[in-house]
Formats: sequence, structure tokens, C-alpha cells
Amino acid sequence: MILIIDFGSQYNQLIARRVRENRIFCQVEPPTIKMDAIRKLNPDGIILSGGPSSIYDKHSPRIDKAIFDLGIPIMGICYGFQFMADTLGGKVKGSKKREYGFAELTILSTDQLFADIDGKTTCWMSHGDTIKKLPPGFKTTASTPSTPLAAATHIKKKLFGVQFHPEVAHTPQGKKIIRRFLFDICGCKCRWTMKNFAAQAVDRIQETVGDQRVILGLSGGVDSSVTALLIHRAIGKKLTCIFVDNGLLRLNEGEKLKITLKQNLDINIRFVSAKRQFLSALSGVTDPEKKRKIIGKVFMDVFEAEAKKIKNAAFLAQGTLYPDIIESRSAFGGPTAVIKSHHNVGGLPKNMKLKLVEPLQYLFKDEVRKLGKTLGLSDELVWRQPFPGPGLAIRIIGNITTRRLTIIRQADDLLLQEIKAAGYYKKLWQSFAVLLPIKSVGVMGDQRTYENILAIRAVTSTDAMTADWAKLPHKFLAKVSNRIINEVNGVNRVVYDISSKPPSTIEWE
Ligand code: XMP
Repeated sequence: MILIIDFGSQYNQLIARRVRENRIFCQVEPPTIKMDAIRKLNPDGIILSGGPSSIYDKHSPRIDKAIFDLGIPIMGICYGFQFMADTLGGKVKGSKKREYGFAELTILSTDQLFADIDGKTTCWMSHGDTIKKLPPGFKTTASTPSTPLAAATHIKKKLFGVQFHPEVAHTPQGKKIIRRFLFDICGCKCRWTMKNFAAQAVDRIQETVGDQRVILGLSGGVDSSVTALLIHRAIGKKLTCIFVDNGLLRLNEGEKLKITLKQNLDINIRFVSAKRQFLSALSGVTDPEKKRKIIGKVFMDVFEAEAKKIKNAAFLAQGTLYPDIIESRSAFGGPTAVIKSHHNVGGLPKNMKLKLVEPLQYLFKDEVRKLGKTLGLSDELVWRQPFPGPGLAIRIIGNITTRRLTIIRQADDLLLQEIKAAGYYKKLWQSFAVLLPIKSVGVMGDQRTYENILAIRAVTSTDAMTADWAKLPHKFLAKVSNRIINEVNGVNRVVYDISSKPPSTIEWE
């Protein structure tokens, strides 16, 4: 495995992705990790990530310098390289000015990291400080016009540093560079497959849980379904799942999910209908955060009441993914980035005294989908687009009423039918309807209408951290718009959302 030390770079998940793409397991840890813990992990190689700090900042993140004596190959990227240089006796020059963007990289030595690269190539830079003097034993291996020491190596100690970012797509040879490090320098083998992962995860769950009972909140999404399958494989009937219908699901979704989940998961599932409880608690509420809080609270109450009926439950399983874990820690010791409130919906009720099992906590979304396939989950569940816990409540802007729920459900259903028929469903990260709280004038037949406006949102993304609006063909949009206006009572205008994230978000609330 490869250990990635997280110095706070916005790209650290990307480094992990690049390693995993090569079917090698990697783990991202903060610089506070102890040397003993590293020895126990026994990594084949270590990558020191970049970070926003200057090595001269009072609180710049640092890792015990004994890391350089472990005899494990290390690659430092950007700040990671500067940290390596500074710690081993080189010199880093502070600068308030950042070099940001493309730079032409001249390869000076092709012996190891750059073995596949000839002469010149492009690389992506994003740094303020630069290395002015290398530590003893290092030699320069690449340079750019403004950064003469753009890469360096200590061959004997297997220490490598690059000032640019090989993990980003803007460095075209970056993947090759990373592969050289993983395979030639660290000697890694491609053993990280979902089949192996599943076998290990099952063992681990059995060890942790023993013969105690586990409860799991099932949402119908791929994460909780895969979690259920894994745990079921490990402990069989000792797992009980709870599915709460909050009345905020898409058209007939509760009923459809009930059938799909039962067919797919031969598992103990308790279906709880709590529509009325949710809708009455939301009555008259328009503020998005208030909606979320209310839904979170009612969910907890309903879930807890149901969970209490399951005697001797000792564990609560959650489908937490790796990005949530990485984002909730920080390079500086504690969690600086507060997890968005929506990530806590469905979290652990404080007084339930259950221990957590999170078997997907080292996986990215695409890996969870692969795992689902390996475990035999149907395509329908594996490829379900993410759907937020608060459901349609945050897609009906303003007041939530039964009438407005009916309108959005019908429009959303038409949209999804068309998206699926045109083969866009899997290609889009999410696609959905949003009902706006304003009306506009229209004309239908000879009649003046004064009705609702419906927005269509469709985005592409790999992890929901950033997203681009989908460039759906005009002809397709025209068809959807026509169908919605003609077939959904209460809508006389359809608009298409052409905003990306950032600065917009995927959901409107
Ligand atoms: P945003 O709107 O923040 O969404 O760009 C990013 C991803 O998170 C989902 N989302 C939620 N999921 N509860 C959830 O379980 C929520 O309150 C919530 N809000 C947003 C959103 O659908 C997208 O996939």
C-alpha cells in the first residue's frame, strides 16, 4: 500500500485517486501520524502531498523527520517537496507571489521518476515558495524557466521531490510519473480489486461485530445498499435494515424501492412509513436549513423508535465514504472544515449508545459502484443517481404542500423517463426538477394562464465537490419542456439551469 500524508492540499483526494486507478491501495493520513503507526501500516511508498502553507508559517504542518529514515521511498509534491528540502538541510525561499498555471518542464535526468519522458513537457504549477538550495545528496532532475529546481532526487535514499502537480490532468505526463513511482520505485503490485476488498471487509466486519446485532438505515442509494450487502455477507440475519419513507421521495419511489430492495437484498428490512410526521413538521417552513434540521430531527425520532424494537443491537452501520472522512479531518490536527449539515442527516443518534461500523470508509463512489457489481447488486441500484436525504423538500423552493409535491413528482418523473430513454441517466451525476416559488404568465389554447415555473437541473461530476451543468442537446430539452408543460397540470414554463458548482451548488437549497 501507499501512504499519503495530507498537508492540506486541495488535490490530496486526486493523489489517492491516481494511486487507486493503478489498483494499489492507499490511505490518506494527517501529518500527526506516529512513526510506529506508519511502520505498522508497512507502506511500500509514501507521498507527501502539497498544501496551502508556507514552510515558514508558524503553524505549518510538519511530520516527524524520522520519516526520512524509514528506508521507504518518498515522493514529495509541492509543499511536500519543500518540507523535504527544508527538513533535510536545503533552503526554501518564501514568496508572497504565487506561480499558478502551466509551465514548460525540461527533464534533466531520465533515470527514475521521469524515465518515460523525453526532453520537454508541460506541467501544472501552484505554489508561492520555491526551493533555492537542495539538501546534500540531491540532484536536480527537472526545471522550468521560473523554477530551476522543479524536481530533485536522492537516488540512494529513494527520495523524490516535484514542485509541480503530477496528480492533476493539466500535467499530461503526470500519470506516467506516478506510475514510475508506484511500480518501479516502490515495487507495488496491482492487488487492489473489489473482490479482494470485499473478502477483507467481510473478515473485518466479522471480527468487529462478532455475534452481536447490527442496524442499518437504508436509503435506496448505492452506498447504503452496498453496505447492507457487505454486512449481510458477514453476519447474515443478525443485520436489520430500516427504511424510512419520509413522504419526500420521487413519484412512487417508496413502493418501487420496497420491491427493488427486497428483490436485490435478501435481507431483513423494516419499512416504516412516516410521511405524515415529516409533512406536518415541515408545514409552513421555507428556510432551507430549517427544513434540513426538521427532517434530520424527525428522521432520528422515527429511526430511533424503530431501532429500539430491535433487541440487543450493538452496532449502527453507515455507508460513509472516504471523501467524507478526508474532508472532516485536517492537515492541522483537528477538523477545521465543518461537515455540511446535510452529511449529518441520518447520523448517529447521541443517546443510542451504538458503536459504528463503516465498511466503505476507504472507498470512493466509483469504487462503491464497482463493489456493488462485484457483490451482485442490480444495475438499477448500482447506477442510481444520488438523491439527497431531505429529498423533494429541498427541490420545492419555499412552502412544501401536497399540491406542490404532486406537481414536482409528475414533472420529475417525466424528466427522468426522457433522460433514461435517451441514454443519459448513467452519464449524468444527477438530473432532477426544481419547483420555483414564483408564477408566470402563459397562454394555452386561447386561455391566459398564470402558473408555476419549473427548473431542470442536470450536472456531470465525479464526486459532487465540483460539477458542470450538462450540455444536453436543445432538441432533447425542447421535448422535455413540451411534455412537462402539456402533461403536468400547474406548470406553464420550464427553464434550464446553466450554472456550475462552484459558485452554484447542485441542489437549489
Ligand atoms: P450541493 O447542493 O451541496 O450537493 O452541491 C452536493 C451533493 O450532496 C447532495 N446533497 C445532500 N445530500 N442531504 C443529503 O443527504 C442533504 O441535505 C443534501 N444537500 C445536498 C446533493 O444531492 C449532491 O449530490
